[in-house]
Amino acid sequence: MEEFGCVRILVLLISAITLGSCVNIEDCGSKIGNFSNVAVTNCDHSPVCILRRNTNVTIQFDFTPHTNIQKVKSVVHGIEMGIPIPFPFPDADACSHGLNCPLFKGKTYSYRATLQVLKKYPRVRVQVKWELKNEDKRDIACLLIPAQIK
Ligand SMILES: *[C@@H]1O[C@H](CO)[C@@H](O)[C@H](O)[C@H]1NC(C)=O
Ligand SMILES: *[C@@H]1O[C@H](CO)[C@@H](O)[C@H](O)[C@H]1NC(C)=O
Repeated sequence: MEEFGCVRILVLLISAITLGSCVNIEDCGSKIGNFSNVAVTNCDHSPVCILRRNTNVTIQFDFTPHTNIQKVKSVVHGIEMGIPIPFPFPDADACSHGLNCPLFKGKTYSYRATLQVLKKYPRVRVQVKWELKNEDKRDIACLLIPAQIK
């Protein structure tokens, strides 16, 4: 769990202090839910999360829907120089990958997913935009994670 430490601490202190060496994960427009306790592999000791090619990166966080939800789809983009590029993510149907759907308003759920960082990806700085969308394509959670593919 040690590798997750820095992100956790930052989330707690996010508005109070600038921690130069930590990753600042932003809310990019969660509409019908909120999230907390974000943890991403290899996100400590650096201002960005390091996505090593040929490895799998795990992202996890807790979220609470503000409405009842039937279906949850994970939508992942890498934003490079302002342009969102879809990240291939085969486990997009979150209800068949860990979540017990339907989800209920006001209840807190844990989300966990594994992203494959393929060898063919370019070594670039990207912002990973990770969204959970409901059946009406509204954002339950939207996370923006600064990252570097290495
Ligand atoms: C990453 O995950 C994929 C799919 O689950 C698996 O096939 C692969 O062996 C994993 N790679 C590593 C480096 O763990
Ligand atoms: C979402 O917000 C509610 C109300 O502010 C809070 O009680 C809850 O802990 C938050 N959920 C998460 C997962 O952060």
